[in-house]
Amino acid sequence: MSPPVFTPTDGPLGAFVTGVNLSGRLEPGAAAAIHTALGEHGVLYFRGQEISREQHIAFAEAVAPIVINRFFTPVTGYPQIAEVRKEADQKLNIGGAWHADHSYDQIPATGSILAAKVLPPTGGDTLFASMYAAYDSLPAATQAHINELRALHSSRHVFGADAAHLTDPDNDQGGRYHNPNAATQDVWHPVVIRHPISGRRALYVNPDFTVQIDGLSETDSAELLDELFTHAQRPEHIYRFKWEPGSIAFWDNRATWHFAENDYHGHRRLMHRITLEGVALEGAERDSLA
Ligand code: OGA
Ligand code: MN
Repeated sequence: MSPPVFTPTDGPLGAFVTGVNLSGRLEPGAAAAIHTALGEHGVLYFRGQEISREQHIAFAEAVAPIVINRFFTPVTGYPQIAEVRKEADQKLNIGGAWHADHSYDQIPATGSILAAKVLPPTGGDTLFASMYAAYDSLPAATQAHINELRALHSSRHVFGADAAHLTDPDNDQGGRYHNPNAATQDVWHPVVIRHPISGRRALYVNPDFTVQIDGLSETDSAELLDELFTHAQRPEHIYRFKWEPGSIAFWDNRATWHFAENDYHGHRRLMHRITLEGVALEGAERDSLA
């Protein structure tokens, strides 16, 4: 059989993948080609792939070891699969703000493979933003400044014991998150990373989890983060993915952010997510020392 084909979207990131059947065993070399393409395009989209839980796990394991998210409620009997769920009577969704998953980890997860299970009649798109494009389009002086910086990432305010979903009734997550005592391991990462697959520079701060830039006053840190966040979410960095039954999105957390639209109140949306283990991140400033 022929190898997978990657067709870039008409946007700044992502590619549609054809020539693979995820309900069967991958051809030799296909998993490696998918991994390389993930680093290049940031997100890979698949259509018409109705896969079982076992097939989802097998596909993930063919690409990289699975990492279990400690805050999401798993699918019963499948600890490897996290439920990304919004019931018809819930107001808040999961992922409804720009973020990169797991940036609060010492070794952040590579990315996730999200499979559509129940979709609302309309809406519920996922937006993806390219952190390659976000970095490349910054003024040279800003790039030079941030290449040297590092930032603190935390999950306390999102998943921890004082997080809004535990203390504010309007923020009810209805049992979708658990294990708040695990949200204690804050971590410093470079503000600009050298992407582990593509070798390209990527902006590595995100609105959900990045809380402070090292060596700056609280005000200057907040101002710079705000400037970077505003810049990164400019429309020219974004692609809107519309889900269909059988759609799968496989994104790279180091090269992209994502945002789940919450525009389908009164309807159910259920996705299954498997997250892949990552590698230690390196700053991009290294080669500027040469
Ligand atoms: C996630 C997430 C987005 C979506 O699974 O990490 O943010 O559209 N999901 O469900
Ligand atoms: Mn997410």
